[in-house]
Amino acid sequence: MRILLDTANLDDIRYFNTYYPIEGVTTNPTILSKEGGDPIVQLKAIRQIIGEDKELHVQVTETEFEKIIEEARLLVDCLGINTFVKIPVTDVGLRVTKYLSDRNIGVTVTAVLTAAQAMLASNAGASYVAPYISRSENLCADGVGTVSDIAKIFNVSGTDTQILAASFKTAKEVLDVAVEGCHSATIGSGIMKMLLSHTTTDTSILGFERDWKEAFGDTTLLKLLKNK
Ligand code: G3P
Repeated sequence: MRILLDTANLDDIRYFNTYYPIEGVTTNPTILSKEGGDPIVQLKAIRQIIGEDKELHVQVTETEFEKIIEEARLLVDCLGINTFVKIPVTDVGLRVTKYLSDRNIGVTVTAVLTAAQAMLASNAGASYVAPYISRSENLCADGVGTVSDIAKIFNVSGTDTQILAASFKTAKEVLDVAVEGCHSATIGSGIMKMLLSHTTTDTSILGFERDWKEAFGDTTLLKLLKNK
């Protein structure tokens, strides 16, 4: 499953873009508001860090059809070809999705809570649908099950729309959606670290270090190799 970073924090993006195989960055108005400053400067800085080939998903803030279209076009002009315009799954959102998709502007339909919404977004030509996992599970709904249903619906229809799951609070939710056939997930830096770390990995490494030292003292494998 492809992983994107759900943040506008430049330090986090710089770090993970260098060392982790991330496919891009997603933002929304809340995420941008946390960083402050000028949002356009921030988005341009993100684009500069990740380069022109990676995906940058940016949410519109306008709510009327014509204005969303104008905003979407200017966003893509400003941030380059691999920019996906995030549009909430509303009536006007679906109409905009159809309009932009017909004109080859990539749309990520966001704030998806049900498989029915995802189906309509796909039929409107969305490049991605973004189901919210923890926001769903917090209401005692089945966020992971929704991804599973969306994957089944998309498999039957043969749509090109991809699932970009979002709103994670645990590493297990990320793994669960991957198992259910989710194409991509966007996660924060904390979840990214949790996906990697395991206490038994840590104790195993300590064991290797202890055993090596007991047998070979301060001699390292690197020193031995260099002296060959
Ligand atoms: O991309 C936006 C989505 O991830 C929302 O996440 O954590 O605010 O529920 P959250």
